[in-house]
Amino acid sequence: MTDQNNPILVVGSTGKTGLRVARLLAERGHRVRPVSRNTDIPFDWEQPATWTKALAGVSAAYVTYFPDLAFPGAAEKIEAFTKAAITAGVRKLVLLSGRGESHAKTCEDIVRDSGLDYTLVRCAWFAQNFSEGYLRDPVLEGMIALPAGKVREPIVDVDDIAEVAVAALTDDRHNGQLYEITGPRLLDFDEAAAELTKATGRAVGYVPITLEQFHQAMTGIGGPMIADVFTGICRETLDGRNEWLGDGIQRALGREPRDFATFCQTAAQGGFWPQAAPKPKVMS
Ligand SMILES: NC(=O)c1ccc[n+]([C@@H]2O[C@H](COP(=O)([O-])OP(=O)(O)OC[C@H]3O[C@@H](n4cnc5c(N)ncnc54)[C@H](OP(=O)(O)O)[C@@H]3O)[C@@H](O)[C@H]2O)c1
Repeated sequence: MTDQNNPILVVGSTGKTGLRVARLLAERGHRVRPVSRNTDIPFDWEQPATWTKALAGVSAAYVTYFPDLAFPGAAEKIEAFTKAAITAGVRKLVLLSGRGESHAKTCEDIVRDSGLDYTLVRCAWFAQNFSEGYLRDPVLEGMIALPAGKVREPIVDVDDIAEVAVAALTDDRHNGQLYEITGPRLLDFDEAAAELTKATGRAVGYVPITLEQFHQAMTGIGGPMIADVFTGICRETLDGRNEWLGDGIQRALGREPRDFATFCQTAAQGGFWPQAAPKPKVMS
């Protein structure tokens, strides 16, 4: 068990998983230190000087790296952060990682070999990408374009990830575990779009594009470096290697993961996709 008197650090506490992890910990009576670039105690991956204050006196840390563990310099920062955690007397790290990504695996190895207690939470695509992330606008516009062909992805609900992370942070039975966190079924993106259509009442379609088209679109959004990294991630992870179901949620929580259809209904009811305004009636 982590020491109840010392706070648990949540890095990326305003993000999709971090927000939920910090909230769940607080609800369950744990002391939490939520940090991002905009919190009272600021934490910036680009400014290691901010890490010391964030780590001071914490028992365990939930580590989410932004933008992605595949970005240049990520492994070096995870290594430096792990050393800073050891120096600060932190006992346990719980690392959010991605499935089938070689760079993420390098970062997992750094945490695994650190000598600290650890849990690795290796996740499939987040369902909340469609409601709170970069795919929300495409859903609202009715067209999701990805270089995914007919590949099937076991999309996972971030609420499930948060529950696994909280279990790992607060219960030593999860020490030394690698959890492959997936949803309960494989969906291709046509099937995901059909579920979104059903829940949102909007026609949502999927258009498979090439990696080159994806790179071009990403260059327009974030510039060539961002485009290179995200295209690399797609090349690596959308080639079929992740077309299998993990058992991390079952092993960590003793229950089945939430289904994508349930996520779609919950997010629609939560107002993440405002209903399209009804067309005004034309009086003749
Ligand atoms: N999305 C997926 O499908 C998926 C799947 C598997 C794994 N992952 C992993 O999940 C992680 C988070 O990705 P996400 O897109 O889901 O994140 P997100 O929800 O957008 O959250 C990002 C968080 O990081 C903080 N942040 C941004 N820049 C930062 C910086 N320089 N230093 C410190 N904190 C910073 C943000 O807060 P501030 O802006 O306030 O700083 C925010 O709290 C990534 O490592 C990604 O590889 C994602």
